[in-house]
Amino acid sequence: MFGSETMGTDGDSSAAHDRPAAHELTLMWRDDQEETIPVGVRETVLDAAERAGVSLPFGCRTGACTTCTGRVLDGCVEHPRPPRGLKARHLDSGYALLCIAELQTDCHIEVGVDVQADLISYPRK
Ligand code: FES
Repeated sequence: MFGSETMGTDGDSSAAHDRPAAHELTLMWRDDQEETIPVGVRETVLDAAERAGVSLPFGCRTGACTTCTGRVLDGCVEHPRPPRGLKARHLDSGYALLCIAELQTDCHIEVGVDVQADLISYPRK
């Protein structure tokens, strides 16, 4: 287990349908749209969103392409496998790969294609 955690700065998906919700996730878009969904134990954010009928951007679903990037605003997520597409400074700033991220607490996560764009413009340290 990789165990990379991302904390907010200011979540085998196929079996998740049968599991009780472990945490509550509020997805927040930059146009002020919000959606709160339940996320099961060991269910990824992307899988939980799809189960709830919420469309989020994604590509590889393996933690490599960063298309699914979100930013944890409040709460804690863990990447059970290496989030290869993110650098340490991105993780330190709350960015997470939602195709592999699992919730450790209730969370508020900023989502949408604009969030991935932050990775390009984010200043180097
Ligand atoms: S979909 Fe490619 S990193 Fe998540």
